[in-house]
Amino acid sequence: MILITGAAGFIGSNFVLDWLAQSDETVINLDDLTYAGNLENLASLKNDARHIFVKGSIGDAELVAQLLAEHQPRAVVNFAAESHVDRSIHGPEDFIQTNIVGTFRLLEAVRAYWGGLADDAKAAFRFLHVSTDEVYGSLGQDDPAFTETHRYEPNSPYSASKAASDHLVRAYHHTYGLPVLTTNCSNNYGPYHFPEKLIPLVIHNALAGKLLPIYGDGQQIRDWLYVKDHCSAIRRVLEAGRLGETYNIGGWNEKPNLDVVHTLCAILDQLSPRADGLPYKAQITYVKDRPGHDRRYAIDASKIERELGWKPAETFESGIKKTVQWYLDNQAWVANVTSGAYREWLGKQYGA
Ligand code: NAD
Ligand code: DAU
Repeated sequence: MILITGAAGFIGSNFVLDWLAQSDETVINLDDLTYAGNLENLASLKNDARHIFVKGSIGDAELVAQLLAEHQPRAVVNFAAESHVDRSIHGPEDFIQTNIVGTFRLLEAVRAYWGGLADDAKAAFRFLHVSTDEVYGSLGQDDPAFTETHRYEPNSPYSASKAASDHLVRAYHHTYGLPVLTTNCSNNYGPYHFPEKLIPLVIHNALAGKLLPIYGDGQQIRDWLYVKDHCSAIRRVLEAGRLGETYNIGGWNEKPNLDVVHTLCAILDQLSPRADGLPYKAQITYVKDRPGHDRRYAIDASKIERELGWKPAETFESGIKKTVQWYLDNQAWVANVTSGAYREWLGKQYGA
């Protein structure tokens, strides 16, 4: 049994689907179903007893303690977070509450539970914290990629809140001996990605005939990793990572945003051409830049490859084609998410 937090979101739901495709070990999914949480992502598990969904917050110490006592998981994987940089700029409060205070309360409940386990279970237990490359700040054009020893220099309220949570996780290992692992990953893309983020937003807007907004000059660089590769890396770290260590996870796929958008437009031109014959890139528009916009992220993922033998399976070219095809095949999912209809479905199903 493992407890996964935030598993109704983009990466967490992919993680649960992959986990249960490969193992019969039951998953308890604790998710507060914020705007980003969507149980439709897990609709294929509706009658699957190996998935136990609990609506609630990682900040609810009593609920977490009760779940741990009842289910006795051998591991906790923490995906739960506010994840969107632009939202953190408009309103940082939720990011402080969930990413910092919530992680703290979760750690406290886990520490109490772990402290009470028998010696064998105590030694086998793991707390894996899922974090981001954004904690390292921004790189110059010629700087080497982030390694695990790069200093923390977060620049947005989002990345600062994730950095704080990483520090708490580290402190719980050094102070209390809690068996923790931390992963810092680059930009994910793939199925079930909420269309507030660049790649799904561009696909959605392109098909809807809307403008494709490029912040600033579009030359900001991100490293892109197909979400299933992130999931396999987390499984590997959970299985064999050294306690107290952090592992960078990345795709070796640095791309300027404008190139990513051009690639998406070109794939859509092939798979779903515009009725008027014009290319989708005609919909590109330049808009005001994100305040404090980090210029470049790049991940050096050699430690996880060297120590744990993990490498991404997808190239950007193969992953991005699969992703566009998934959005074309799942337009009802996108329509529900963007119309808010999925919230009504939640209300019906869970009274949320
Ligand atoms: P997401 O926004 O799609 O999903 C977050 C999930 O957490 C949602 O289901 C939401 O309902 C849930 N949640 C929010 N607050 C909660 C709370 N207080 N208690 C319980 N559940 C809560 O995010 P994502 O993109 O899937 O990211 C998951 C994790 O991975 C985050 O910690 C994020 O920082 C990290 N990460 C994301 C990326 C990326 O590219 N998306 C890259 C590296 C790391
Ligand atoms: O690097 C990992 C991080 O990647 C994760 O920790 C975050 O949770 C995740 O949201 C993502 O953050 P980014 O800010 O890099 O992702 P986003 O999709 O919001 O933006 C990607 C780039 O595209 C960024 O440089 C901003 C730009 N952008 C974004 C949007 C939404 C645009 O130019 N136009 C847009 O409309």
